[in-house]
Amino acid sequence: MKIAVLGTGYVGLVAGAGFADFGNDVVCLDIDGHRVSTLARGELPIYEPGLPELVRANIEAGRLHFSQSPEQVLPSAEVILICVGTPPSETGEADLSQVFSAARTIAEQRGPHFTLVAIKSTVPVGTTERVTAILETACAEETQDGEPAAVPRGPFVVVSNPEFLKEGSAVEDFMRPMRILAGLGPLRGDADEQRRLAEQARALMRRLYGPVVRTNDRLLFCDARSAELTKYASNAYLAMRVSFINDIANLCEEVGADVELVRRGMGMDTRIGAHFLFPGLGYGGSCFPKDTQALAALGRQHGLELHLVEATGRINQRQRQRLLAKLVRHLGPADAARNKTAASSSEKPLAGKIIALWGLSFKPETDDVREAPALAIIDALVDAGAQIRASDPVAHHSAAQTCARHVASLRFFADAYEAARGSDALILCTEWRQFRQPNFARLKSLMRGTALFDGRNIWDPEQVRENGFAYFGVGR
Ligand SMILES: NC(=O)c1ccc[n+]([C@@H]2O[C@H](COP(=O)([O-])OP(=O)(O)OC[C@H]3O[C@@H](n4cnc5c(N)ncnc54)[C@H](O)[C@@H]3O)[C@@H](O)[C@H]2O)c1
Repeated sequence: MKIAVLGTGYVGLVAGAGFADFGNDVVCLDIDGHRVSTLARGELPIYEPGLPELVRANIEAGRLHFSQSPEQVLPSAEVILICVGTPPSETGEADLSQVFSAARTIAEQRGPHFTLVAIKSTVPVGTTERVTAILETACAEETQDGEPAAVPRGPFVVVSNPEFLKEGSAVEDFMRPMRILAGLGPLRGDADEQRRLAEQARALMRRLYGPVVRTNDRLLFCDARSAELTKYASNAYLAMRVSFINDIANLCEEVGADVELVRRGMGMDTRIGAHFLFPGLGYGGSCFPKDTQALAALGRQHGLELHLVEATGRINQRQRQRLLAKLVRHLGPADAARNKTAASSSEKPLAGKIIALWGLSFKPETDDVREAPALAIIDALVDAGAQIRASDPVAHHSAAQTCARHVASLRFFADAYEAARGSDALILCTEWRQFRQPNFARLKSLMRGTALFDGRNIWDPEQVRENGFAYFGVGR
Protein backbone atom coordinates (compact mmCIF):
# COMPACT_ATOMS: atom_id res chain seq x y z
CA MET A 1 0.00 0.00 0.00
CA LYS A 2 1.23 3.52 -0.70
CA ILE A 3 1.02 5.58 2.48
CA ALA A 4 1.87 9.23 3.07
CA VAL A 5 2.29 10.61 6.57
CA LEU A 6 2.03 14.34 7.27
CA GLY A 7 4.10 15.28 10.32
CA THR A 8 7.18 13.45 11.59
CA GLY A 9 6.85 14.01 15.35
CA TYR A 10 6.45 11.22 17.90
CA VAL A 11 3.21 10.03 16.32
CA GLY A 12 3.98 10.42 12.60
CA LEU A 13 7.44 8.92 12.79
CA VAL A 14 6.32 5.87 14.75
CA ALA A 15 3.33 5.31 12.45
CA GLY A 16 5.41 5.86 9.29
CA ALA A 17 8.20 3.49 10.36
CA GLY A 18 5.68 0.98 11.73
CA PHE A 19 3.59 0.78 8.54
CA ALA A 20 6.80 0.58 6.47
CA ASP A 21 7.90 -2.33 8.62
CA PHE A 22 4.78 -4.23 7.54
CA GLY A 23 5.96 -3.96 3.93
CA ASN A 24 4.14 -0.80 2.85
CA ASP A 25 5.68 1.95 0.77
CA VAL A 26 5.72 4.96 3.12
CA VAL A 27 6.76 8.56 2.65
CA CYS A 28 6.82 10.83 5.71
CA LEU A 29 6.35 14.51 4.93
CA ASP A 30 7.18 17.45 7.12
CA ILE A 31 7.29 21.21 6.60
CA ASP A 32 10.44 21.35 8.73
CA GLY A 33 13.23 20.94 6.17
CA HIS A 34 15.92 20.39 8.79
CA ARG A 35 13.91 17.55 10.32
CA VAL A 36 13.36 15.94 6.92
CA SER A 37 17.05 16.01 5.98
CA THR A 38 18.07 14.71 9.42
CA LEU A 39 15.64 11.82 9.09
CA ALA A 40 16.65 11.07 5.52
CA ARG A 41 20.19 10.45 6.83
CA GLY A 42 18.74 7.91 9.29
CA GLU A 43 19.29 10.23 12.27
CA LEU A 44 16.44 10.79 14.72
CA PRO A 45 15.48 14.24 16.00
CA ILE A 46 13.70 12.66 19.00
CA TYR A 47 14.54 10.02 21.58
CA GLU A 48 12.20 7.03 21.51
CA PRO A 49 13.42 3.53 22.42
CA GLY A 50 13.47 1.10 19.48
CA LEU A 51 12.58 3.77 16.93
CA PRO A 52 16.07 4.43 15.46
CA GLU A 53 16.48 0.74 14.60
CA LEU A 54 12.99 0.60 13.03
CA VAL A 55 13.56 3.76 10.99
CA ARG A 56 17.02 2.76 9.74
CA ALA A 57 16.00 -0.81 8.84
CA ASN A 58 13.10 0.46 6.74
CA ILE A 59 15.14 3.20 5.06
CA GLU A 60 17.70 0.55 4.13
CA ALA A 61 14.97 -1.76 2.84
CA GLY A 62 13.77 1.09 0.59
CA ARG A 63 10.28 1.19 2.14
CA LEU A 64 10.58 4.40 4.17
CA HIS A 65 11.34 7.81 2.67
CA PHE A 66 11.25 11.40 3.89
CA SER A 67 10.21 14.40 1.87
CA GLN A 68 9.27 18.05 2.05
CA SER A 69 7.39 17.95 -1.28
CA PRO A 70 3.74 16.89 -0.97
CA GLU A 71 3.20 17.42 -4.70
CA GLN A 72 5.59 14.54 -5.38
CA VAL A 73 4.07 12.20 -2.81
CA LEU A 74 0.34 12.77 -2.26
CA PRO A 75 -0.96 12.18 -5.83
CA SER A 76 -0.07 8.49 -5.61
CA ALA A 77 -0.90 7.89 -1.93
CA GLU A 78 -3.83 5.57 -1.17
CA VAL A 79 -3.78 6.37 2.54
CA ILE A 80 -2.78 9.75 3.97
CA LEU A 81 -2.24 10.05 7.72
CA ILE A 82 -2.48 13.46 9.38
CA CYS A 83 -0.07 13.41 12.34
CA VAL A 84 0.63 17.12 12.81
CA GLY A 85 0.64 18.95 16.13
CA THR A 86 -2.45 20.33 17.89
CA PRO A 87 -0.91 22.52 20.61
CA PRO A 88 -3.09 24.42 23.08
CA SER A 89 -4.18 27.93 22.19
CA GLU A 90 -4.15 30.69 24.83
CA THR A 91 -7.74 29.93 25.78
CA GLY A 92 -7.12 26.19 26.19
CA GLU A 93 -8.77 25.02 22.97
CA ALA A 94 -6.71 22.97 20.53
CA ASP A 95 -4.99 25.10 17.90
CA LEU A 96 -5.99 23.38 14.67
CA SER A 97 -4.00 25.51 12.25
CA GLN A 98 -1.53 22.69 11.46
CA VAL A 99 -4.39 20.25 10.82
CA PHE A 100 -6.23 22.62 8.49
CA SER A 101 -3.04 23.51 6.65
CA ALA A 102 -2.35 19.77 6.16
CA ALA A 103 -5.95 19.33 4.94
CA ARG A 104 -5.51 22.10 2.36
CA THR A 105 -2.33 20.45 1.12
CA ILE A 106 -4.17 17.13 0.74
CA ALA A 107 -7.07 18.89 -1.01
CA GLU A 108 -4.65 20.30 -3.57
CA GLN A 109 -2.52 17.22 -4.09
CA ARG A 110 -4.48 14.01 -3.62
CA GLY A 111 -4.70 11.67 -6.60
CA PRO A 112 -7.39 10.44 -9.03
CA HIS A 113 -8.07 7.20 -7.14
CA PHE A 114 -9.95 6.63 -3.86
CA THR A 115 -8.01 8.17 -0.95
CA LEU A 116 -8.43 7.44 2.73
CA VAL A 117 -7.43 10.37 4.93
CA ALA A 118 -6.93 9.31 8.56
CA ILE A 119 -6.60 11.97 11.26
CA LYS A 120 -4.27 10.58 13.92
CA SER A 121 -3.72 13.96 15.59
CA THR A 122 -5.81 14.57 18.70
CA VAL A 123 -8.58 16.88 17.51
CA PRO A 124 -11.77 18.27 19.05
CA VAL A 125 -15.19 16.92 18.16
CA GLY A 126 -16.26 18.13 14.72
CA THR A 127 -12.75 18.38 13.22
CA THR A 128 -13.18 15.37 10.90
CA GLU A 129 -16.23 17.14 9.46
CA ARG A 130 -14.27 20.36 9.01
CA VAL A 131 -11.40 18.54 7.29
CA THR A 132 -13.93 16.80 5.01
CA ALA A 133 -15.40 20.22 4.19
CA ILE A 134 -11.95 21.56 3.25
CA LEU A 135 -11.43 18.66 0.86
CA GLU A 136 -14.96 19.05 -0.58
CA THR A 137 -14.57 22.80 -1.05
CA ALA A 138 -11.41 22.23 -3.06
CA CYS A 139 -13.35 19.83 -5.35
CA ALA A 140 -16.18 22.35 -5.78
CA GLU A 141 -13.78 25.21 -6.60
CA GLU A 142 -12.14 23.13 -9.30
CA THR A 143 -15.52 22.33 -10.83
CA GLN A 144 -16.76 25.94 -10.71
CA ASP A 145 -13.67 27.34 -12.41
CA GLY A 146 -14.30 24.93 -15.21
CA GLU A 147 -10.56 24.28 -15.16
CA PRO A 148 -9.77 20.64 -14.59
CA ALA A 149 -7.22 20.07 -11.85
CA ALA A 150 -3.71 19.22 -13.04
CA VAL A 151 -4.28 15.86 -11.40
CA PRO A 152 -7.99 14.88 -11.38
CA ARG A 153 -9.17 14.23 -7.81
CA GLY A 154 -10.81 10.95 -6.87
CA PRO A 155 -13.34 10.19 -4.15
CA PHE A 156 -12.18 10.27 -0.53
CA VAL A 157 -13.25 9.54 3.02
CA VAL A 158 -11.84 11.25 6.10
CA VAL A 159 -11.60 9.02 9.18
CA SER A 160 -10.92 9.98 12.77
CA ASN A 161 -8.22 7.53 13.84
CA PRO A 162 -6.83 8.91 17.12
CA GLU A 163 -3.45 7.70 18.30
CA PHE A 164 -3.08 6.18 21.76
CA LEU A 165 0.65 5.48 21.89
CA LYS A 166 2.71 6.43 24.95
CA GLU A 167 6.07 8.10 24.55
CA GLY A 168 8.77 5.81 25.92
CA SER A 169 6.97 2.68 24.66
CA ALA A 170 5.59 4.09 21.41
CA VAL A 171 6.91 1.38 19.10
CA GLU A 172 5.57 -1.38 21.33
CA ASP A 173 2.21 0.43 21.63
CA PHE A 174 2.03 0.80 17.85
CA MET A 175 2.76 -2.89 17.27
CA ARG A 176 0.39 -4.07 20.02
CA PRO A 177 -2.36 -1.47 20.31
CA MET A 178 -5.05 -1.84 22.96
CA ARG A 179 -7.56 -0.50 20.44
CA ILE A 180 -7.81 1.22 17.09
CA LEU A 181 -10.69 3.56 16.50
CA ALA A 182 -11.94 4.33 13.03
CA GLY A 183 -14.61 7.03 13.11
CA LEU A 184 -15.99 7.57 9.63
CA GLY A 185 -16.57 11.21 8.69
CA PRO A 186 -19.36 12.55 6.46
CA LEU A 187 -19.79 10.78 3.13
CA ARG A 188 -20.72 12.42 -0.17
CA GLY A 189 -23.31 11.37 -2.72
CA ASP A 190 -26.56 9.42 -2.66
CA ALA A 191 -27.21 6.47 -0.35
CA ASP A 192 -25.58 3.95 -2.73
CA GLU A 193 -22.48 6.04 -3.19
CA GLN A 194 -22.23 6.60 0.58
CA ARG A 195 -22.46 2.85 1.19
CA ARG A 196 -19.72 2.23 -1.38
CA LEU A 197 -17.45 4.89 0.12
CA ALA A 198 -17.99 3.61 3.66
CA GLU A 199 -17.16 0.06 2.55
CA GLN A 200 -14.02 1.22 0.74
CA ALA A 201 -12.91 3.18 3.80
CA ARG A 202 -13.54 0.24 6.15
CA ALA A 203 -11.73 -2.17 3.83
CA LEU A 204 -8.67 0.10 3.63
CA MET A 205 -8.61 0.58 7.42
CA ARG A 206 -8.77 -3.22 7.86
CA ARG A 207 -5.89 -3.67 5.42
CA LEU A 208 -3.86 -0.89 7.01
CA TYR A 209 -4.17 -2.23 10.55
CA GLY A 210 -4.52 -5.93 9.64
CA PRO A 211 -1.00 -6.83 10.86
CA VAL A 212 -1.64 -5.47 14.37
CA VAL A 213 -5.14 -6.85 14.91
CA ARG A 214 -4.49 -10.37 13.66
CA THR A 215 -4.66 -12.05 17.06
CA ASN A 216 -7.36 -9.89 18.62
CA ASP A 217 -9.88 -7.81 16.77
CA ARG A 218 -9.35 -4.44 18.37
CA LEU A 219 -10.44 -2.34 15.42
CA LEU A 220 -13.61 -0.48 16.36
CA PHE A 221 -15.59 1.30 13.65
CA CYS A 222 -17.71 4.17 14.85
CA ASP A 223 -18.72 7.70 13.90
CA ALA A 224 -16.08 10.42 13.78
CA ARG A 225 -17.47 12.43 16.69
CA SER A 226 -17.41 9.43 19.02
CA ALA A 227 -13.84 8.56 17.99
CA GLU A 228 -12.69 12.15 18.56
CA LEU A 229 -14.33 12.32 21.98
CA THR A 230 -13.04 8.88 23.04
CA LYS A 231 -9.48 10.13 22.72
CA TYR A 232 -10.06 13.17 24.93
CA ALA A 233 -12.17 11.25 27.43
CA SER A 234 -9.47 8.56 27.75
CA ASN A 235 -6.67 11.05 28.42
CA ALA A 236 -8.80 13.10 30.81
CA TYR A 237 -9.76 9.95 32.73
CA LEU A 238 -6.13 8.85 33.17
CA ALA A 239 -5.10 12.39 34.16
CA MET A 240 -7.99 12.44 36.64
CA ARG A 241 -6.66 9.28 38.32
CA VAL A 242 -3.25 10.95 38.75
CA SER A 243 -4.83 14.06 40.25
CA PHE A 244 -7.10 11.94 42.45
CA ILE A 245 -4.21 10.04 44.01
CA ASN A 246 -2.27 13.31 44.43
CA ASP A 247 -5.23 14.73 46.34
CA ILE A 248 -5.28 11.62 48.52
CA ALA A 249 -1.48 11.87 48.97
CA ASN A 250 -1.84 15.41 50.27
CA LEU A 251 -4.53 14.25 52.67
CA CYS A 252 -2.22 11.43 53.80
CA GLU A 253 0.33 14.06 54.83
CA GLU A 254 -2.28 15.82 56.95
CA VAL A 255 -3.74 12.73 58.63
CA GLY A 256 -0.55 10.70 59.04
CA ALA A 257 -1.28 7.93 56.50
CA ASP A 258 1.10 6.54 53.86
CA VAL A 259 -0.19 7.00 50.32
CA GLU A 260 2.07 4.21 49.06
CA LEU A 261 0.06 1.76 51.14
CA VAL A 262 -3.22 3.43 50.27
CA ARG A 263 -2.60 3.26 46.52
CA ARG A 264 -1.49 -0.37 46.71
CA GLY A 265 -4.56 -1.25 48.75
CA MET A 266 -6.79 0.54 46.25
CA GLY A 267 -5.07 -1.01 43.25
CA MET A 268 -5.66 -4.57 44.50
CA ASP A 269 -9.34 -4.04 43.74
CA THR A 270 -9.66 -5.19 40.14
CA ARG A 271 -12.48 -2.69 39.61
CA ILE A 272 -9.96 0.08 40.33
CA GLY A 273 -6.64 -1.39 39.15
CA ALA A 274 -3.15 -0.10 39.88
CA HIS A 275 -2.48 1.93 36.73
CA PHE A 276 -2.10 5.72 36.87
CA LEU A 277 -2.42 5.79 40.64
CA PHE A 278 1.11 7.01 41.33
CA PRO A 279 1.39 10.11 43.49
CA GLY A 280 4.11 12.61 42.70
CA LEU A 281 4.71 15.94 41.03
CA GLY A 282 1.74 15.54 38.72
CA TYR A 283 1.42 14.71 35.06
CA GLY A 284 3.04 16.55 32.15
CA GLY A 285 3.81 15.88 28.52
CA SER A 286 2.31 16.92 25.25
CA CYS A 287 -1.04 15.19 25.81
CA PHE A 288 -2.62 15.12 29.30
CA PRO A 289 -2.30 18.85 30.08
CA LYS A 290 -3.45 20.10 26.69
CA ASP A 291 -6.11 17.43 26.20
CA THR A 292 -7.74 18.02 29.59
CA GLN A 293 -7.75 21.75 28.86
CA ALA A 294 -9.23 21.21 25.40
CA LEU A 295 -11.93 18.89 26.77
CA ALA A 296 -12.88 21.41 29.44
CA ALA A 297 -12.97 24.13 26.75
CA LEU A 298 -15.22 21.93 24.57
CA GLY A 299 -17.58 21.52 27.51
CA ARG A 300 -17.69 25.27 28.09
CA GLN A 301 -18.40 25.91 24.40
CA HIS A 302 -21.47 23.71 24.84
CA GLY A 303 -22.56 25.37 28.06
CA LEU A 304 -21.41 22.46 30.20
CA GLU A 305 -18.86 22.74 32.96
CA LEU A 306 -16.93 19.47 33.21
CA HIS A 307 -16.21 19.75 36.94
CA LEU A 308 -13.96 16.70 37.27
CA VAL A 309 -11.87 17.66 34.25
CA GLU A 310 -11.47 21.26 35.43
CA ALA A 311 -10.47 20.13 38.92
CA THR A 312 -7.98 17.63 37.46
CA GLY A 313 -5.99 20.47 35.88
CA ARG A 314 -6.11 22.65 39.00
CA ILE A 315 -4.90 19.83 41.28
CA ASN A 316 -2.06 19.13 38.85
CA GLN A 317 -0.84 22.73 38.99
CA ARG A 318 -1.04 22.81 42.77
CA GLN A 319 0.98 19.63 43.12
CA ARG A 320 4.14 21.23 41.75
CA GLN A 321 3.76 24.22 44.02
CA ARG A 322 3.45 21.99 47.09
CA LEU A 323 6.91 20.56 46.58
CA LEU A 324 8.35 24.01 46.27
CA ALA A 325 6.60 25.12 49.43
CA LYS A 326 8.18 22.18 51.27
CA LEU A 327 11.58 23.11 49.89
CA VAL A 328 11.29 26.73 50.95
CA ARG A 329 10.08 25.69 54.41
CA HIS A 330 13.14 23.50 54.77
CA LEU A 331 15.80 25.70 53.17
CA GLY A 332 14.43 29.21 53.07
CA PRO A 333 14.79 31.99 55.63
CA ALA A 334 12.92 31.73 58.89
CA ASP A 335 10.10 34.07 57.82
CA ALA A 336 9.37 31.82 54.83
CA ALA A 337 9.27 28.81 57.09
CA ARG A 338 6.82 30.54 59.42
CA ASN A 339 4.53 31.49 56.54
CA LYS A 340 4.44 27.85 55.47
CA THR A 341 4.18 28.86 51.82
CA ALA A 342 6.59 29.32 48.94
CA ALA A 343 5.64 33.00 48.67
CA SER A 344 7.50 34.45 51.59
CA SER A 345 8.04 38.02 52.68
CA SER A 346 11.59 37.58 51.46
CA GLU A 347 11.47 38.14 47.70
CA LYS A 348 14.11 35.53 46.93
CA PRO A 349 13.70 32.90 49.64
CA LEU A 350 16.22 30.58 48.00
CA ALA A 351 18.90 33.18 47.20
CA GLY A 352 22.35 31.62 47.56
CA LYS A 353 20.96 28.06 47.53
CA ILE A 354 22.10 25.44 45.06
CA ILE A 355 19.50 22.88 44.07
CA ALA A 356 20.28 19.68 42.18
CA LEU A 357 17.57 18.30 39.95
CA TRP A 358 17.42 14.74 38.60
CA GLY A 359 15.18 14.20 35.58
CA LEU A 360 13.88 16.82 33.17
CA SER A 361 11.67 14.93 30.72
CA PHE A 362 8.00 14.64 31.65
CA LYS A 363 8.45 10.91 32.16
CA PRO A 364 11.23 8.33 31.78
CA GLU A 365 12.38 7.03 28.38
CA THR A 366 11.63 10.19 26.45
CA ASP A 367 13.38 13.48 25.74
CA ASP A 368 10.03 15.28 25.58
CA VAL A 369 9.95 18.16 28.08
CA ARG A 370 6.64 19.68 26.99
CA GLU A 371 4.75 20.65 30.18
CA ALA A 372 7.25 18.63 32.22
CA PRO A 373 6.85 19.23 35.99
CA ALA A 374 10.65 19.65 36.19
CA LEU A 375 10.50 22.75 34.00
CA ALA A 376 7.77 24.37 36.09
CA ILE A 377 9.90 23.65 39.16
CA ILE A 378 12.95 25.19 37.47
CA ASP A 379 10.94 28.36 36.72
CA ALA A 380 9.86 28.60 40.37
CA LEU A 381 13.34 27.85 41.74
CA VAL A 382 14.91 30.52 39.54
CA ASP A 383 12.23 33.01 40.64
CA ALA A 384 13.08 32.13 44.23
CA GLY A 385 16.74 32.95 43.61
CA ALA A 386 18.24 29.43 43.48
CA GLN A 387 21.03 28.15 41.24
CA ILE A 388 20.17 24.82 39.59
CA ARG A 389 22.38 21.89 38.60
CA ALA A 390 20.35 19.48 36.48
CA SER A 391 20.91 16.05 35.00
CA ASP A 392 18.79 13.91 32.70
CA PRO A 393 19.83 10.88 30.63
CA VAL A 394 18.55 12.31 27.32
CA ALA A 395 16.66 15.60 27.72
CA HIS A 396 19.41 18.24 28.15
CA HIS A 397 19.05 19.53 24.60
CA SER A 398 15.26 19.93 24.65
CA ALA A 399 15.31 21.38 28.19
CA ALA A 400 18.06 23.86 27.31
CA GLN A 401 15.96 25.14 24.39
CA THR A 402 12.85 25.55 26.53
CA CYS A 403 14.75 27.08 29.47
CA ALA A 404 17.02 29.35 27.41
CA ARG A 405 15.97 32.37 29.51
CA HIS A 406 17.43 30.72 32.64
CA VAL A 407 20.91 30.36 31.21
CA ALA A 408 22.50 32.28 34.10
CA SER A 409 20.91 30.06 36.77
CA LEU A 410 20.78 26.61 35.17
CA ARG A 411 23.62 24.20 34.35
CA PHE A 412 23.39 20.69 32.91
CA PHE A 413 25.58 17.73 33.89
CA ALA A 414 25.88 14.44 32.05
CA ASP A 415 26.86 12.79 35.35
CA ALA A 416 23.98 12.88 37.84
CA TYR A 417 26.35 12.79 40.83
CA GLU A 418 28.27 15.75 39.43
CA ALA A 419 24.97 17.64 39.32
CA ALA A 420 24.51 16.94 43.03
CA ARG A 421 27.97 18.25 43.96
CA GLY A 422 27.80 21.19 46.40
CA SER A 423 23.98 21.30 46.40
CA ASP A 424 21.81 22.13 49.38
CA ALA A 425 19.01 19.84 48.23
CA LEU A 426 18.32 17.29 45.51
CA ILE A 427 14.93 17.00 43.82
CA LEU A 428 14.05 13.82 41.94
CA CYS A 429 11.62 14.94 39.23
CA THR A 430 11.56 12.02 36.76
CA GLU A 431 11.79 8.36 37.79
CA TRP A 432 14.37 7.23 35.24
CA ARG A 433 15.61 3.68 35.96
CA GLN A 434 19.14 4.91 36.70
CA PHE A 435 17.84 7.12 39.52
CA ARG A 436 15.98 4.36 41.33
CA GLN A 437 18.81 3.03 43.50
CA PRO A 438 21.43 5.72 43.82
CA ASN A 439 24.52 5.45 45.96
CA PHE A 440 23.25 7.60 48.85
CA ALA A 441 26.58 7.51 50.67
CA ARG A 442 28.27 8.97 47.60
CA LEU A 443 25.55 11.60 47.33
CA LYS A 444 26.06 12.50 50.97
CA SER A 445 29.79 13.03 50.43
CA LEU A 446 29.13 15.29 47.42
CA MET A 447 26.24 17.43 48.63
CA ARG A 448 26.50 20.47 50.87
CA GLY A 449 23.06 19.95 52.38
CA THR A 450 21.06 16.96 53.53
CA ALA A 451 17.60 17.33 51.93
CA LEU A 452 16.34 14.79 49.37
CA PHE A 453 13.01 15.55 47.74
CA ASP A 454 11.67 12.38 46.17
CA GLY A 455 9.09 13.77 43.76
CA ARG A 456 8.08 10.29 42.55
CA ASN A 457 8.18 8.25 45.78
CA ILE A 458 10.77 5.85 44.37
CA TRP A 459 13.23 5.83 47.27
CA ASP A 460 13.02 3.99 50.54
CA PRO A 461 12.65 6.74 53.18
CA GLU A 462 14.38 4.61 55.82
CA GLN A 463 17.41 3.97 53.63
CA VAL A 464 17.62 7.67 52.79
CA ARG A 465 17.46 8.65 56.47
CA GLU A 466 20.03 6.00 57.45
CA ASN A 467 22.43 7.79 55.12
CA GLY A 468 22.04 11.00 57.03
CA PHE A 469 19.52 12.77 54.81
CA ALA A 470 16.16 14.35 55.54
CA TYR A 471 13.59 12.63 53.29
CA PHE A 472 10.67 14.47 51.70
CA GLY A 473 8.30 12.36 49.62
CA VAL A 474 4.72 12.86 48.50
CA GLY A 475 2.02 11.69 50.88
CA ARG A 476 4.18 9.48 53.07
N1 LIG B 1 3.27 12.66 21.48
C1 LIG B 1 2.41 11.76 21.94
O1 LIG B 1 2.71 11.01 22.86
C2 LIG B 1 1.05 11.65 21.34
C3 LIG B 1 0.26 10.52 21.63
C4 LIG B 1 -1.00 10.44 21.07
C5 LIG B 1 -1.49 11.46 20.29
N2 LIG B 1 -0.71 12.56 20.05
C6 LIG B 1 -1.26 13.61 19.20
O2 LIG B 1 -0.70 13.45 17.90
C7 LIG B 1 -0.45 14.73 17.31
C8 LIG B 1 1.02 14.85 16.95
O3 LIG B 1 1.77 14.79 18.14
P1 LIG B 1 3.37 14.77 18.13
O4 LIG B 1 3.79 14.71 19.54
O5 LIG B 1 3.84 13.76 17.16
O6 LIG B 1 3.62 16.24 17.52
P2 LIG B 1 4.98 16.99 17.20
O7 LIG B 1 4.76 18.40 17.52
O8 LIG B 1 6.12 16.23 17.82
O9 LIG B 1 5.14 16.83 15.61
C9 LIG B 1 4.30 17.42 14.69
C10 LIG B 1 5.06 17.55 13.37
O10 LIG B 1 4.16 17.98 12.34
C11 LIG B 1 4.86 18.84 11.47
N3 LIG B 1 3.89 19.61 10.66
C12 LIG B 1 3.14 20.67 11.02
N4 LIG B 1 2.35 21.05 9.99
C13 LIG B 1 2.61 20.22 8.95
C14 LIG B 1 2.10 20.09 7.62
N5 LIG B 1 1.17 20.90 7.15
N6 LIG B 1 2.60 19.12 6.84
C15 LIG B 1 3.56 18.29 7.29
N7 LIG B 1 4.06 18.34 8.56
C16 LIG B 1 3.59 19.29 9.38
C17 LIG B 1 5.71 19.66 12.41
O11 LIG B 1 6.78 20.29 11.72
C18 LIG B 1 6.19 18.59 13.41
O12 LIG B 1 7.40 17.98 12.99
C19 LIG B 1 -0.95 15.76 18.30
O13 LIG B 1 -2.27 16.07 18.00
C20 LIG B 1 -0.89 15.01 19.63
O14 LIG B 1 -1.81 15.49 20.56
C21 LIG B 1 0.54 12.67 20.55
